Amino acid sequence: MNLETPENVVLVGFMGSGKSSIGRLLAKAIGFDFLDTDQLIVERTGKQIPEIFAENGEEFFRDQETCVIRSLIEQNRTVISTGGGAIIRVENREMLRRTGFVVCLTASEDILFERVSRNTKRPLLQCENPRQALSKLFAARAEAYELAAQWTLDTSLLTQHEAAEALIQGVLIHFPWIRSNSNNS
Ligand code: S3P
Repeated sequence: MNLETPENVVLVGFMGSGKSSIGRLLAKAIGFDFLDTDQLIVERTGKQIPEIFAENGEEFFRDQETCVIRSLIEQNRTVISTGGGAIIRVENREMLRRTGFVVCLTASEDILFERVSRNTKRPLLQCENPRQALSKLFAARAEAYELAAQWTLDTSLLTQHEAAEALIQGVLIHFPWIRSNSNNS
């Protein structure tokens, strides 16, 4: 075991990439806790995400997100799912790297759009042409995801369980001690 490596898995990726659902499956499989930065922001502010955007604006939300990310360094053996925009600030990317093994979940724009269209809770896509808004954000953030991630997993052609299985395998390569611990137990 490498003591230099923080023992967390940090999931980054665009809205609809499956960070929360696949992250929960991963956490269960490897016996880690699970945290979601959006959920932590909701707990901290006492408001839902759309309410924060509407009442306080995006910058306030981003500041909350940075505060939450800063607090994550205390975590251990945790799978952390981040909001899609958590990688925009350089400062956040640096903190996430120090927090754990950063994996980007990705998918094609069409598939992401199909997935996010199933719910109306994402303030950045509540506009006249959400498909175009997604496309613009996707292009604007592509480099930030690349810079943030140590490994990228494309889930376009995978079911949720297949994606979780692929993620588990990647995480076991990065943290081989997890496998040996479960073999011993
Ligand atoms: C956002 C993504 C959302 C949430 C907020 C902003 C973004 O999280 O943090 O609506 O900027 O991409 P999900 O990626 O979990 O949808």
